[in-house]
Amino acid sequence: MPFAAITSVASWLPERRLTNADLEKLVDTTDEWIVSRTGIRERRIADSGDATSDLAARAGTLALQRAGVAAADVDLLILATSTPDMVIPSAACITQAKMGLTCPAFDLNAVCTGFIYALEVATSFIESGRARTVLVIGADVLSSVVDYTDRATCILFGDGAGAVLLTASETPGVLGVHLGADGNGADLLYVPAGGSASPANPEQLVAGGHHIKMNGNEVFKFAVRAIPQVTLEALEESQLTLADVDWLVPHQANQRITDTVAQRLGIPAEKVVCSIENTGNTSAASIPIALDSLFSGGHLRPGHILALVGFGAGLTYGAAIVRWTRKD
Ligand code: ACO
Repeated sequence: MPFAAITSVASWLPERRLTNADLEKLVDTTDEWIVSRTGIRERRIADSGDATSDLAARAGTLALQRAGVAAADVDLLILATSTPDMVIPSAACITQAKMGLTCPAFDLNAVCTGFIYALEVATSFIESGRARTVLVIGADVLSSVVDYTDRATCILFGDGAGAVLLTASETPGVLGVHLGADGNGADLLYVPAGGSASPANPEQLVAGGHHIKMNGNEVFKFAVRAIPQVTLEALEESQLTLADVDWLVPHQANQRITDTVAQRLGIPAEKVVCSIENTGNTSAASIPIALDSLFSGGHLRPGHILALVGFGAGLTYGAAIVRWTRKD
C-alpha cells in the first residue's frame, strides 16, 4: 500500500490589512479588547473582484512550484472552503481552470475543519492507489459573509489561502487522521440565508440573513473540549503520544483557545504555532497558512511530528498526525 506524504506547502494572503484601529472606526470596540480576548491585531481582506478561487489558485500554484510539479501531473484537486465564488459551480472547478490543471476537482465544506477533512480524503485516494498526486487547498473569503456592524464577529475573521501537495510515498507521512461532527450544534455558527432552506431574497438581504451568526461562548467551550480529545484520538491511531509531538498546528480561531488547548494537552508554548495575530481566523485556510509559516520560517526538519488540529461550524472537528518528510 502506498503512503501519503506532504511534499509541499504554500500560502497566499491579500495585501489589504484591516487593523484593530480600522475596526475601532466601524464598531464600538477597542484594540485592547480585541487583543486581550482574541490575540488578533490585523486581518487581510481580499480586493474587491478577488474571489476564493483567486486566492486558492495563487496558493496552489506556489505549492506546485515549490514541489517542482507540473500542473499536468496533479491527479486531483480538493478545495476546502465554505465561501465558494458562487453556489454553482464549485470554486474548485474555477480554481482548476485558473491553475491550468486538467484533473478532477471538487469543493469540500467542513468550514474551519475543512482542511483536515480534505487531508483525510486526499490520503484515502493515495493509499487506495486511486491517485498519486493530490493538491489540497484551504481558501476562504470570509469578509464576504461578515457583518461589519456586528462587533462580536467582525473582529475575528480574515481572508486567505493555504495549500499542500500530497504525493504517494514509500515512507509514511500522514500517520493518522481522526474526524468528528456534531450537527446538533449547527445553529451555533451559521449563515441563515442563501441556501435551500432560505433562498436569497430582498427581505433576507435587508435583515442581514447573508451574514455569519455566532454564539461565541458556546463555540469557545466546544473548541477547548473537542480539540484536546480529537488530538489524543489521532495520536493513539498513529501509535504515538503527546511526547512525540514536535509541533502543534491548531486552527487559528482565538489565541485564548489555542493557549487553553496547549495547556490542557501539556504542550509547551514553544511547540505551538501561532499565526493569528496578523491573519485573524481564515477558516479552512488557517491550518495550511500556519503550517507554511513554520516551513517558510525554516523550523521544520525531516522526521518532525506535527499535530494539525481544527474545529469549526457544523460543528466539526478533526486532527491529523503528520511526519514531515521533505528534506529542505
Ligand atoms: N469589543 C468590545 N466588547 C465586545 C466585543 C468587541 N468586539 N464583542 C463583544 N463585546 C462585549 C459583549 O457585548 C459583552 O458585553 P456585556 O458583558 O456587557 O454583555 C462582553 O464583551 C463579553 O462578551 P463575550 O462574548 O462573553 O466575550 P468573550 O470573552 O467570550 O469573547 C469571543 C468573545 C472572542 C467571540 C469568544 O467567545 C470566542 O473567540 N469564541 C470562539 C469563536 C470562534 O472561534 N469562532 C470561529 C469558529 S471556526 C469557524 O467555523 C468559522
